[in-house]
Amino acid sequence: MNNRQVLLASRPTGWVSEANFRVAEAPLPKPGEGEVLVKNLWLSLDPYMRGRISDAKSYVKGVEIGEVMTGETAGEVLESRHPKFKPGDTVTAPSGWQLYCSVNGEMLTKVDASRAPLSHYLGCLGMPGRTAYFGLKDIGAPRPGETVVVSAASGAVGMVVGQLAKAWGCRAVGIAGGPQKCEYVRSLGFDACVDYKAGNLYDDLKAACPKGVDVYFENVGGPILDTLLRLMNFRSRIVVCGLISDYQASEPYGVRMFRSILVNRIKVQGMIVFDWVERYPEANAALLELLLAGKLKYRESVLEGIEAAPKGLIGLLQGRNFGKQLVKLA
Ligand SMILES: NC(=O)c1ccc[n+]([C@@H]2O[C@H](COP(=O)([O-])OP(=O)(O)OC[C@H]3O[C@@H](n4cnc5c(N)ncnc54)[C@H](OP(=O)(O)O)[C@@H]3O)[C@@H](O)[C@H]2O)c1
Repeated sequence: MNNRQVLLASRPTGWVSEANFRVAEAPLPKPGEGEVLVKNLWLSLDPYMRGRISDAKSYVKGVEIGEVMTGETAGEVLESRHPKFKPGDTVTAPSGWQLYCSVNGEMLTKVDASRAPLSHYLGCLGMPGRTAYFGLKDIGAPRPGETVVVSAASGAVGMVVGQLAKAWGCRAVGIAGGPQKCEYVRSLGFDACVDYKAGNLYDDLKAACPKGVDVYFENVGGPILDTLLRLMNFRSRIVVCGLISDYQASEPYGVRMFRSILVNRIKVQGMIVFDWVERYPEANAALLELLLAGKLKYRESVLEGIEAAPKGLIGLLQGRNFGKQLVKLA
């Protein structure tokens, strides 16, 4: 049995291309003392990966040329030299883009695949779900009756934000690209969804938010943020979760409506989900409960085979994914 990996071959300048990656064969890793050998079944593709292959300073060290591309997987334990794990356990792992990994057991999370599909532990029950939960609950802090707007609403984080807003008694309004994505977002129970590609974002959002916006969950940045700044209420909150429209831009977008923050006393706060690591069990339990109660619907966008991962990341950064982007590995 051999391992198959995707390595970073070169750093992209601007848009990522398939030439930035290389597929390689490697021997199956042997678990050392305290380590666990995992067969990866699902690979998660996430926008943060664009930052990891750039040499710009970020909140985590990037991937070096020739290294296995970074990423989280869900899979099954084949062999364990750690007391907490046994063969057959299902886990999520900081494996990287490869079919097998051998990692310290302390870095694995055991997940219960009998309660929800294993892939969901990389999505609504995993990092994106927890991001939505803590960002909205702790920073957005919405009160019942308030209006919550989220961008990239049909995506991994956005889908959860809007459904949590509904579960917490708010008006939920999504922003997504294209009529098909907007229709899907409405089918999740959002009160409205606005297509930012239709060219009428300010008026459409104004109509969808008749009482203004109390919480804006920012996933994209750019002109969409400026449009929201014109609609934010007095003492409203902006959760700065992601700025995907900037990730491949040669120059960062310059916000024009900054004055609105002053005039409306808006609280703007950036977030990185790791900051809540001690409270992950709280989010995991709340999200699982909603899912099992049928109050959290979720869509996945699945590619097959490890070789498809570069194409999947490129598509995700261009909005070609429709739901949480995953690669099925086996
Ligand atoms: N801070 C944290 O801890 C944390 C954790 C997880 C994720 N994030 C951030 O959260 C955001 C969403 O992540 P996700 O995993 O849920 O991804 P996702 O929404 O599943 O996929 C990305 C989506 O972004 C939209 N998009 C791409 N380029 C855009 C552009 N130029 N303008 C507007 N929208 C654009 C596309 O949707 P449309 O087709 O609708 O445009 C695309 O489908 C990202 O910015 C990510 O970096 C942050």
